[in-house]
Amino acid sequence: MLRHLPPIADPAVLVGTATQDDAGVYLVTPEIALVQTVDVFTPVVDSPYWFGAIAAANAMSDVYAMGAAPRLALNIAGFPRNRLPLDVLGEIFRGGGDKCTEAGVAVIGGHTIDDPEPKFGLAVTGFVHPGRIVTNATARPGDRLVLTKPLGMGVITTGIKQERTTPETAEAAIAIMAALNRGAAEAMLEVGVSAATDVTGFGLLGHLHEMTRAAGVRAHIHADAVPVLEETWALVRAGAVPGGTQRNREAVAHAVLWDGVSEDAQVILCDAQTSGGLLIAVPEARLEQLRAALRRREVSVVAVIGEITEPGSGAITVSMR
Ligand code: CO
Ligand code: CO
Repeated sequence: MLRHLPPIADPAVLVGTATQDDAGVYLVTPEIALVQTVDVFTPVVDSPYWFGAIAAANAMSDVYAMGAAPRLALNIAGFPRNRLPLDVLGEIFRGGGDKCTEAGVAVIGGHTIDDPEPKFGLAVTGFVHPGRIVTNATARPGDRLVLTKPLGMGVITTGIKQERTTPETAEAAIAIMAALNRGAAEAMLEVGVSAATDVTGFGLLGHLHEMTRAAGVRAHIHADAVPVLEETWALVRAGAVPGGTQRNREAVAHAVLWDGVSEDAQVILCDAQTSGGLLIAVPEARLEQLRAALRRREVSVVAVIGEITEPGSGAITVSMR
């Protein structure tokens, strides 16, 4: 659909719609580039407060994925004012606002429309030195792939809607989705990495495929090294698989070679994530430095899940080990 947008002529636009990157980037001065993104979705958890917090963490994630620091945000909401008490909207704003405060982001306004289904998200603005932008298009053969949050959020939130997910797992998933990717972004900036993206709606393999295709490389994923929240396996067996996850699997089928990987694991590797972790491509020589920098910032998951293998057209091989 992006081809229906006008072509970008302004040379100050450093990253626009031509690449499948996480956010747009605009050069303000030789020292300052502005990074902009927007994300909105329908409730993924029952608590309005945590829905707001997760939506905010998710919206800021695209700024972190570019190596930038978010600073400003505008709320965007849809709300059925005749069907739900306004306090619910207040709780959504409070959750989003607390998350923005934690990130050092000022919420400077917003807009709400009457809408039969609640929706919430933010337009987020951040800043980065133009020489330090991290794109998703520059992974190189020999890079190792590091993931900073476990998979399973699409399956678990579908399980919540179907009343199959246990309260313990729902709580764990909320904490994971509401966690900022700030520590991961700061660690990758400190160490210097080849490329990064955040894992969201297209799932791990969908976002990895964007990286490999853009860079003209191939990748290898070790399925048993990919962190997964434990109950996800049982929920997949029970059929709690979102439509987006199934579509992701079909969308990457042409590019993925499955080598002895179970059906359930294939589903999870394509599971549509909400506010997932960063997927970072780092030169082998800096891997240990990155791991240490991530741990120092208390990033809870630091998983080395595979590597960029060779030049190519974006194909991904997934094997068990
Ligand atoms: Co993204
Ligand atoms: Co996004």
